[in-house]
Amino acid sequence: MSGQEVLVLNGPNLNLLGVREPSVYGEADYQALVTYCEHSAKDLGLVVEVRQTNSESELVEWVQQAGVAGRPLVINPAAFTHYSYALRDALAACSAPVVEVHISNPAARESFRHHSVVSAVVMGSIAGFGFASYGLALRAIKGALDGDK
Ligand code: DQA
Repeated sequence: MSGQEVLVLNGPNLNLLGVREPSVYGEADYQALVTYCEHSAKDLGLVVEVRQTNSESELVEWVQQAGVAGRPLVINPAAFTHYSYALRDALAACSAPVVEVHISNPAARESFRHHSVVSAVVMGSIAGFGFASYGLALRAIKGALDGDK
């Protein structure tokens, strides 16, 4: 049975999961994240397409396409979180639910990570739970699609 489709977008350097700062991001690699998202989605009756890019322009284009298609989004904008007004504007144009996720807890890290320029234009933000941040975000999307209060 196919479920409602959700796009999961990942920004720069998340392709390096497992290699990059494992003490912060864990030992599991990007493919493990994709598998985790697919299983979490299936449990919720959703279907995910998971993508990663290091390019701001590609990420903005994917968000624009999701916006036009009315497709719900889970997005880890990675470093773009902290300075990309282009990404923020693209997210603000999305009508379907959008959840911002982070593997680490940026609020507990360097001061430049304390501000997210996208938080104000998304439904909500989940950070600090490792890959589980994505599972929680998918749960929130499912609740929004089902009209939960
Ligand atoms: C991150 C946190 C960001 O500050 C950082 O630039 C990342 C990953 C996270 O998932 O914890 O690349 O978004």
